Amino acid sequence: MTIATKCPVLVTGGAGYIGSHAVLALRDADWPVAVIDDLSTGFAFAVPEEVPFYRGDIADGVLLDQIFTEQGIGHGVGAIMHFAGSVVVPESVENPLRYYDNNTARSRALIEAAVHAGVPHFIFSSTAATYGVPDVEKVAEDTPQQPINPYGWSKLMTERMLADASAAHGFNYGALRYFNVAGADPDGRTGQSTAGATHLIKVACEAAMGKRESVAIFGTDYDTRDGTGVRDYIHVSDLADAHVRTLEALVEQPDRSLTMNCGYGRGFSVREVLDSIDRITGAGIVRREEQRRAGDPARLIADSSRLQETLDWTPRFADLDTIVRHALEWERRLANLREEA
Ligand code: UD1
Repeated sequence: MTIATKCPVLVTGGAGYIGSHAVLALRDADWPVAVIDDLSTGFAFAVPEEVPFYRGDIADGVLLDQIFTEQGIGHGVGAIMHFAGSVVVPESVENPLRYYDNNTARSRALIEAAVHAGVPHFIFSSTAATYGVPDVEKVAEDTPQQPINPYGWSKLMTERMLADASAAHGFNYGALRYFNVAGADPDGRTGQSTAGATHLIKVACEAAMGKRESVAIFGTDYDTRDGTGVRDYIHVSDLADAHVRTLEALVEQPDRSLTMNCGYGRGFSVREVLDSIDRITGAGIVRREEQRRAGDPARLIADSSRLQETLDWTPRFADLDTIVRHALEWERRLANLREEA
């Protein structure tokens, strides 16, 4: 697909985990990019030096107006990829108002500024957490959205705002519902750097590096093949590529918005993930069997046919060992980066 004129893209949260991979994917596909990030959880080192970087708040209308009209990244922003937000489910239960502020109110302000500036395309990071605990083998986009925590609600509300604002103001949007994002850039340019992570693959990589003594298995009595929770782990670089292709689709068909699940349509259990780490390191991480974690569904697997059919998207890194190997390679690199700093 050739896009005659590639518009500048503003990436919010571009210094964070998924956003920094999207910046690389956009640059690899020759889209001009700028980043806005407040560095509350992101890292300046994750933004390539040549990319214009604005440190600030996505709800700061004055800063956004400046970015939207800035000549440095082209002739005004033509699309927004919105990653900035908070992602820790238990934290959202303890501090819901913070999530409704960060993920909902600030998104509202960003959408308003985009409408005001006439930005024609908007891509939003949504989540499988908007489905809650779905009672289906594979979750399709029309599976009822019934979040069970403020994190899921805070994202669902933003999906709703986008649908309404797009109808009223004539921009199109992509809402991408991520399943379990993992792995890191295969070339080692960025990865998951957040301290205090709670995600399984990140936690297990930290244990493999000796940063943790053991890994908990939350629940061994689920109705799954080995009793542990099953998830659809998607490589972050395949996900970033899906964003670039969504952008292409939005530009080519400005009257069409897209809501798509992002997963591969297959699942791995907690034990299978830990086995993969052990296979790759040749060592055995210590496993602790614990009670189920509150609110965890037994399995969460995407029906990803819409993504596969709508976009010219072919996953490159769906193999679990590849995902885990890239995550481990980044964990090693991160340890070196921190030693050098
Ligand atoms: C959750 C959200 C997801 C969201 C992500 C963002 C739901 C249903 N899913 O993913 O939408 O994008 O958080 O933060 O709310 N596990 C262990 N030991 C650990 C860590 C995890 O056994 O130390 C297990 C969990 O019980 C689960 C699986 O590993 O079965 C994956 O957990 P995790 O990586 O935390 O992601 P989700 O909770 O699935």
